[in-house]
Amino acid sequence: MLKGRSLIDPSDFTREEFREIFDLAHEIIKNPEKFSKSCEGKILATLFYEPSTRTRFSFEAAMLRLGGQIIGFSEPNSSSVSKGESISDTIKTIECYADIAVMRHPKEGAPKVASQSVSFPVINAGDGGHQHPTQTLTDILTMERLKGNIENKVYGFCGDLKFGRTVHSLIKFLSNYEGVRFILISPEELRVPEYVREEIMKKKNVPFVEVEKMEPYLGEIDFLYMTRVQRERFFNEEDYIRLKDRFILDAEKMSFASPETYILHPLPRVNEISVEVDIDPRAQYFQQAKNGMFVRMALILKLLGIY
Ligand code: NCD
Repeated sequence: MLKGRSLIDPSDFTREEFREIFDLAHEIIKNPEKFSKSCEGKILATLFYEPSTRTRFSFEAAMLRLGGQIIGFSEPNSSSVSKGESISDTIKTIECYADIAVMRHPKEGAPKVASQSVSFPVINAGDGGHQHPTQTLTDILTMERLKGNIENKVYGFCGDLKFGRTVHSLIKFLSNYEGVRFILISPEELRVPEYVREEIMKKKNVPFVEVEKMEPYLGEIDFLYMTRVQRERFFNEEDYIRLKDRFILDAEKMSFASPETYILHPLPRVNEISVEVDIDPRAQYFQQAKNGMFVRMALILKLLGIY
């Protein structure tokens, strides 16, 4: 039963519960009209303490397409947060007005603290460099639509694997599935955090390699997950400048990939994928952004207990 639950981390739900969400998302894609009044009278609150385009708009569009309403802020300085209000007080107040809340925060664990202070569903829309579970839902739905299932596949992750919360959540999720193998492509300084290596991949016996070049591996990768170097999490600008353009996927590199190597990216992109790649049918990142809205519709319906 997903009704009333919060989604903070990919380990919060079982495989079967995630299955319910994906099945509903596929159904919504087939017939969105059927769901256009499902959330009438319900309110979704978006609390964004950090910038966002896709995550906030896709949640808001999801609720509006379900017939519900939205409230929230995308600029914490315009709310009482700027007066020093605690997360717990803010979320308790929001619970008086809304039926479900989505929170993005620069501090790891902030959405978890919020969810523990209230009894309505709170969704983590990204907490610092830690986790971003609804991006994972978006990624998995996209992969299922491209290859039918996510098992027995080779996943390439490229870019900032240290600070990229989308990578951490996706690795955590995929590690529960059979036959997955990871190729982690990054400069040494931007490798996955210790807890991801030791407590997730090694513990679950997922085969992985950590490498600094993508070309030799492109032919065997099913999904190449590109990421931007997370400038806002760096301690100094020089390191960012030194590392930011280390990996650029362009048409020439795409010629090393197999015809079935799909390119995903949570977006926003900076320089890591040349725009010339966008017309390649294997480039699926804009479709991925669209799928994000459908899977968030499914998530909202499940957490509100409507489906
Ligand atoms: C990602 C994020 O916020 O972590 N964006 C998103 O939600 N689609 C990736 C990023 O900012 O690089």
